Amino acid sequence: MLAPRLRRETVPVSHQVNFQFRRVQLRAGTDGELQALHAVEAPIETERGSNRMPQPLDSYMAFARNLPSQFSDHTWLVETSDDTPIAVGYCWSNAAGDERIMECDVLVRRDRRREGIGTRLMALICEETASAGRSLLTWSTFDPVPAGDAFSRSLAAHAARVNRTSELALSDVDWTMVERWTSAERARELGYSLELVVGAFPEHLRADAATFHHIMQTAPRDGLDAGGVTIDTQFVAELDLALIDSGRSRWSLFVRDAAGACVGGTEVTFEPDDPSTVFQQNTGIDPSHRGIGLAKWVKAAMLERIRDERPEVRLVRTGNALSNAPMLAVNDALGFRLVSMSTDWQAQVNDLLHTTRSISPPVHRRR
Ligand SMILES: CC(C)(COP(=O)(O)OP(=O)(O)OC[C@H]1O[C@@H](n2cnc3c(N)ncnc32)[C@H](O)[C@@H]1OP(=O)(O)O)[C@@H](O)C(=O)NCCC(=O)NCCS
Repeated sequence: MLAPRLRRETVPVSHQVNFQFRRVQLRAGTDGELQALHAVEAPIETERGSNRMPQPLDSYMAFARNLPSQFSDHTWLVETSDDTPIAVGYCWSNAAGDERIMECDVLVRRDRRREGIGTRLMALICEETASAGRSLLTWSTFDPVPAGDAFSRSLAAHAARVNRTSELALSDVDWTMVERWTSAERARELGYSLELVVGAFPEHLRADAATFHHIMQTAPRDGLDAGGVTIDTQFVAELDLALIDSGRSRWSLFVRDAAGACVGGTEVTFEPDDPSTVFQQNTGIDPSHRGIGLAKWVKAAMLERIRDERPEVRLVRTGNALSNAPMLAVNDALGFRLVSMSTDWQAQVNDLLHTTRSISPPVHRRR
């Protein structure tokens, strides 16, 4: 059951002929507001090729209400005059990340596209970004929705990184090769070892989780002009809370050197609504420990555990920058097959403000 919440005052920011924009919130949204956001977002996630059941409402609401405090929360809902939700705009900054950057997403229901709603939402996001003193906006689009690409080009944004989503059917895995990778003779001789953590990190392992996160900052950024995100143990604990409250579970496998220091690892997550698919998240090895088979070992060990402990899993899904040759080589050898592509876009807020104003009239706020 969803917890009843007090209705919050929201601020209508504009009335158009047949739709209106209003500011809502994720963390403090009412049940009705979060339901409306979810009603727009869930079908578009499927359209984007997530290839899984839409995220259940309960899990979406738990995610929203447990948004870690490092993320700012700016959300707009677009509704018709009879309160039907038709579009959503989000933007958020990360207090632990690059202070120039705001990330965003714009989602317009299929039957209400090409009416200028997306551009107006982007204009509101730009205003918010400028008033927060940030200068760069980034977002992602997914090839199954070509409108996202066309929209980003109409805004004269820069395609900064191209990524691929790929899947591995467990039935296609060459388990003999996987076993060879897990034998990792050289790495074992050098004193490396693996350590599994199921679920949230216990307090004594949070520093290692932060180290692993920082190792992941060495992944290719291509044209993304974005500095790293530096996190601490408190951030790790908050992320874990959000993970658990949204019903997800996670296995992390750390790689330790002979002295016991965390020098890399891999993580997978499981969604509560889709037991047949596991999401291969970050895999990273500290640059000074590369070239001795640690990535192959840790990924292969994780695959064996999935096979042994989660017989219901059929597919492993992952995403990688197209420029990440070493990771793609490991994934290709395991048998991952391309499913779709996505693009990370970036634009200067001043340029975007100019473009959105020239495409659509400014949104007038009403308070
Ligand atoms: C991308 C999206 C937000 C655009 O919303 P929208 O309300 O249709 O956008 P607008 O009406 O403001 O379109 C602005 C311009 O983008 C371009 N554009 C948008 N969709 C297009 C399409 N399908 N084909 C060609 N050009 C397109 C056009 O130049 C359009 O101007 P025009 O209609 O005057 O020619 C919407 O398609 C969507 O929700 N897609 C799924 C989510 C997504 O990919 N979001 C992008 C991440 S920010």
